[in-house]
Amino acid sequence: EIEKRVDSLLNQMTLDEKIGQMTQVRHFEEIPEDAISSGAIGSIIHTEGPLPGNDAKEWQAAFTSLQEKALSSRLGIPLLFGVDAVHGQNTYEGATIFPHNIGLGATQNKELVEKAAKITALESKATGFNWVFSPCVAIPCNEKWGRVYEAFSESTELTEILTRASVKGHQGSELNKNSIMATAKHFIGDGATDNGVEGGDCSLSIQEVKDRLLPPYKVAVDEGVGAVMASFNSMSGLPMHAHKYWITEVLKESMGFDGIVVSDWKGYSRFGENEIINAGIDMVMAVDGDYDLFREGLKAGVENGQVSQTRIDDAVRRILRQKLRLGVFENPFPDATLIGKIGCSEYRDVARQAVRESLVLLKNKDNTLPLDKSLNKIVVVGEHANNAGLQSGGWTIHWQGSSENYTGSTTILEGIKKMAKGEVVYDIDATANHDDADVAIVVIGETPYAELFGDIGGEIDAYQLYLSEQHKSYLNTYAKKGIKTVVLLISGRPLVVSGEIEQADAYVAAWLPGSEGDGIAEVLFGDYNFKGKLPHSWPAAVEDYRGKYGPNFWDDSITPLFPFGHGLEY
Ligand code: IFM
Repeated sequence: EIEKRVDSLLNQMTLDEKIGQMTQVRHFEEIPEDAISSGAIGSIIHTEGPLPGNDAKEWQAAFTSLQEKALSSRLGIPLLFGVDAVHGQNTYEGATIFPHNIGLGATQNKELVEKAAKITALESKATGFNWVFSPCVAIPCNEKWGRVYEAFSESTELTEILTRASVKGHQGSELNKNSIMATAKHFIGDGATDNGVEGGDCSLSIQEVKDRLLPPYKVAVDEGVGAVMASFNSMSGLPMHAHKYWITEVLKESMGFDGIVVSDWKGYSRFGENEIINAGIDMVMAVDGDYDLFREGLKAGVENGQVSQTRIDDAVRRILRQKLRLGVFENPFPDATLIGKIGCSEYRDVARQAVRESLVLLKNKDNTLPLDKSLNKIVVVGEHANNAGLQSGGWTIHWQGSSENYTGSTTILEGIKKMAKGEVVYDIDATANHDDADVAIVVIGETPYAELFGDIGGEIDAYQLYLSEQHKSYLNTYAKKGIKTVVLLISGRPLVVSGEIEQADAYVAAWLPGSEGDGIAEVLFGDYNFKGKLPHSWPAAVEDYRGKYGPNFWDDSITPLFPFGHGLEY
């Protein structure tokens, strides 16, 4: 039935309309006034840039009017609206923000991952998004990579389990009108580049890629994932966007993927529109005002025979097929019944559970934890303790994340204040004199970053896998006073913190927990036990980063400080 409808549409479409389906732009792009109503756009992406507004209702209105324009086009083909909701609906304030995938990896809890994905889908669908660019199913092989936190784990097996759960949570048992389309990304080798350089070269052999990196994609395809995003890395020198072997022969032909392969950001301007379409990319992020360059380049490619009409028809078939499966033709507009539930307590409870289960206890000298709720005085230290932006990391409200608080969240300090019966004081930078405190909870770690910025320019020296001197001094100040110290490390990856672990009485890897600071307090004070297990082996020393991969990846001669799966309990 669906294929027949696709045939019928394809038979009526002009080349311009077909290329239109393959074109994705941002909602605020400078495109001709009638671009959408003339069928020149197939999809809209939101990742960063002016928002329709902070209120979800304004998003709903904006998407409704864009969709109306698409429906008024000659063939009335509706748009897909895609978003980087990579740890919850992190786009509009007030929505539920889950721990980043590395934290979900620590939970090892597939039911929880499925629930989190389902909530993300519902909160996204509420405003009209019908496509998320998630989950990232990378196997990070070097902590220097600035996107380690977007992936579940260094373990292929654990990533397979959680990938299945995530795709199922977003899409349901199959793509239909209740689903939102998920995207397995970035195909393939994103986290396995030499030295962890974002967009660098992956020199693993084909067999190693098949054994270690491909299995989560197989699971995703089995589960019916609607889309796969191509990666910016190259594979032994050949850019993945132009890699016909991996995209067409392996993913589409051998693995039977019948959905959409979407490029990454302006993928065509780096690698050539005709080259990437010939390699098997079906839809292109033609963003940043380059919309006409992509369209004109591809049209010329078809007219001069560089790109076959058959390839274009295959790409458009895949896009129309997913639109039909998602029921966007019949239900083109946002589901107004979902909007009232954005950020509701039922959803946030699930996020809080995820925070609790993601925490990994690395050290607990003399049972420093759990803390007694009736301690006289607790000092909470560090800017990360009272800032939901810092505790959430990149891809939160803004692409690079931010250091601002946002509505609908609780900070770690707020959570601790609710839980403790005695006095709780805040020392943002360890300069206040709280010598009489019974315990210092020192919250330190990384400031938010997203792709590109965690590994600036590929310079090894710029990779910072250790804490700033300022953050080390927060711990030092209180340890020197002889006050018991509990460190909460807020980071998107394991850092080299052997000295600080030695110095602290208790040490917790809290990853990037998201909007629910309460979840941390509930575990610190013993209402819940620690459950999290390390999703990565934990490096011992910076000097161990000698090879292309992190010291703990596939190199048995280097002993990690803590192995994969480590995590203490009360
Ligand atoms: O989905 C992302 C991808 O992970 C990195 N580059 C940009 C895309 C769209 O925002």
